[in-house]
Amino acid sequence: MKRSKITIIGAGHVGATAAHWAMIKNLGDIVLIDIQEGVPQGKGLDLLESSPIAGIDSRITGTNNYAEAKDSDVVIVTAGLPRKPGMSRDDLIAKNTEIVKNVTEQIVKYCPKAFLIIVSNPLDAMVYVVSKVGKFPNNMVVGMAGVLDSARFRTFISEALGVSVEDVSAFVLGGHGDTMVPLPRYCSVGGIPITELLPKEKIEEIVKRTRNGGAEIVNLLKTGSAYYAPSAAAIEMAESYIRDKKRILPCAAYLNGEFGVKGVFVGVLAQIGGNGIEKIIEFPLTDEEKDAFQKSVDHVKELCKVTKV
Ligand code: APR
Repeated sequence: MKRSKITIIGAGHVGATAAHWAMIKNLGDIVLIDIQEGVPQGKGLDLLESSPIAGIDSRITGTNNYAEAKDSDVVIVTAGLPRKPGMSRDDLIAKNTEIVKNVTEQIVKYCPKAFLIIVSNPLDAMVYVVSKVGKFPNNMVVGMAGVLDSARFRTFISEALGVSVEDVSAFVLGGHGDTMVPLPRYCSVGGIPITELLPKEKIEEIVKRTRNGGAEIVNLLKTGSAYYAPSAAAIEMAESYIRDKKRILPCAAYLNGEFGVKGVFVGVLAQIGGNGIEKIIEFPLTDEEKDAFQKSVDHVKELCKVTKV
């Protein structure tokens, strides 16, 4: 069987950690690319040297040369600036639009058929930039945000109830930012909705902490943003594609009329399998949830305009 090839662009905190998760999951061969000379090579070599201990035969290469990404099955884009305390993800837009545009031109050149997972922020706008500049099929471009936001949500629910994270199912819709829409009514523990298990005030507290989950970590780190959970989330999406698992994962996918929205990449529940985004899962929303989702979509549209792409 042919081994999968995963290219990770940006060998910083998120990129290098994603390479680590991909190696541990034995997803295939990994190419780490960065503009900084020596950094992808050094991190790639260090990872490769950990593979005998991990017992995994992944070929891991670090490079500044995009030609080495040729014919990758999956490309994960993490290139770009992270935020610092006091910054919103949206504050990164000008600089990261330029970086992501350049990166996209290289993807077009070397791996136009890959499944593309975008992680750079502001997420929803960067997915738009990749799609617009690269003109890839809409089912082959997706943004990583929902799996991360939902993982934060699940962590806090499991802590509040003292139960295993494995038994907590939860997801958020909408953009990756202040307008994200956590949906407590669809979150459950062992199949029981959390609205039956936790008081309203506690759920509100958890929703608020989830919405500020990224900022909470930026404020603690002071020099950058989260990377263990974001990279794990991106690799969960990559795995579903590579292994055709058909997972239902919250992610920024292209909407073509679903939920009454057309022509926008925004956070929804999507099925990821061997054909990329295979399906968007639609389900009923209350008027309040619809309003919150629409506000989030409007914000994403505004951000996309700011990119001037
Ligand atoms: N091509 C390739 N790599 C680039 C480019 C480029 N044009 N421009 C910048 N980079 C690299 C940087 O050299 C750096 O190594 O992107 C890497 C980013 O790494 P970090 O600064 O450690 O940032 P990180 O925490 O990994 O976050 C990356 O993901 O979660 C988002 O908001 C976050 O936008 C940020 C991105």
